[in-house]
Amino acid sequence: MNSVAEKFLSKVPQYTRNRRHFSSFVTHGNVRKWANLLTVEMERKLRKVQVKGYPYILFLDPCNYCNLRCPLCATGRNDLGRKQAMLSFEHFKRYFDPFAPYLFETNMHNWGESLLNKEVYRMIEYVQSRNVGTNLSSNFVKLDSNDLDNLLDCGLEYLIASVDGTSQETYSKYRVRGNYDTVIENLSELLRRRNQRRQRTPVIEWQFILMRHNEHQIAEAQQLAKKLGVDRLRFIPVGLPYDAPNRKELANEWFPKELRGRTDSDGNEQQFAQKDKPSPCFYLYRSFVINPDGGVSPCCIVPRQHTDFANLSELTEIDVLKIYNNEYYQSGRALFGRKASQSKVKTTCDGCDIFARPPANPVIRGEVDPSDQPGGAFVPLSQIGLGPASVERSDVDA
Ligand SMILES: C[S@@+](CC[C@H](N)C(=O)[O-])C[C@H]1O[C@@H](n2cnc3c(N)ncnc32)[C@H](O)[C@@H]1O
Ligand code: SF4
Ligand code: SF4
Repeated sequence: MNSVAEKFLSKVPQYTRNRRHFSSFVTHGNVRKWANLLTVEMERKLRKVQVKGYPYILFLDPCNYCNLRCPLCATGRNDLGRKQAMLSFEHFKRYFDPFAPYLFETNMHNWGESLLNKEVYRMIEYVQSRNVGTNLSSNFVKLDSNDLDNLLDCGLEYLIASVDGTSQETYSKYRVRGNYDTVIENLSELLRRRNQRRQRTPVIEWQFILMRHNEHQIAEAQQLAKKLGVDRLRFIPVGLPYDAPNRKELANEWFPKELRGRTDSDGNEQQFAQKDKPSPCFYLYRSFVINPDGGVSPCCIVPRQHTDFANLSELTEIDVLKIYNNEYYQSGRALFGRKASQSKVKTTCDGCDIFARPPANPVIRGEVDPSDQPGGAFVPLSQIGLGPASVERSDVDA
């Protein structure tokens, strides 16, 4: 199998864009932000439960509606567990402002197709004007000529186009309702206009999720990426719904057969904190996730409203550190701590095995060094009363 992709997929952590992050640390940095970055990283290393560092990466979702129906995405499966909403510019600004002084980047997407919210360009412009970089991931299906120009005018720094295949057949097996030719045309036209303007941004990444049905198209994707002139082609491993009860079954259906990197040798799904490198969940130290309804999720992996850690729409004043140190965040971080947790609150993090943590009892008694422990303790969500939920969804045409 293709050695470039194999090499890439064997790297950890697999979802981070290190080159992109490095560039925004430089471009959007200042003394206050860098000092905060050091504090955050130190606190994570020391497994602090209460923190002084501010989150430096924000996810602010402009909308959680989507035109596609990707079968492993909570929105695509109509299994978001949250009311769908379009974020207004006024709410966006109210949520963004308190975080701005410490941010290097804001992700202008999370659980929907952000380009369906026509205010998104104004939001991006605003974020950039506050010296914070912007990233946006899109399925790139539903765009018109104005959208293409707006993407070039608004100052967006990094665009991720989600295209998982090199033919309609493979592409639409995951991007259900999507049209492959339309996406490639949109991408090609954006590149043409950007190059005509001699503009360097947005950097355009073609993101290709490797799955069983498209893993044979790696070489073709590489050729087409070159022909199109995208700045980066990035293969990423396929993730499964966080709380799906049938993950093994889904893994058999979707995980690549030939490529390794997402699974261990015994066939188990391999997550961010691989066996030889256990470390506390980085989301609970570095990032902050705001949904269009103002709900705060602990990370971009869990969508459900009933697992939220706060709701900004209910607050008259947003005190970032007060929220970041509330009982939910502290409870989440305590799961990775070296000492017994005093927290009585259980959160969705209790049922999460994405980041390895020591088996609870010995660590809570302080008998075992967490860094010696392989794997993570997985408590099924059903055991802590946090099962899947579903809400009605309004339809959006493809
Ligand atoms: C939920 S989507 C929202 C943004 C946009 N609708 C899109 O698809 O690009 C956020 C990111 O998750 C990626 N994604 C979707 N399904 C995935 C899966 N099963 N495994 C890994 N990443 C996935 C998307 O490609 C996108 O980059
Ligand atoms: S396009 Fe993005 S948001 Fe829409 S269903 Fe697919 S992964 Fe989810
Ligand atoms: S659910 Fe898992 S990945 Fe998300 S914040 Fe909690 S521990 Fe981290």
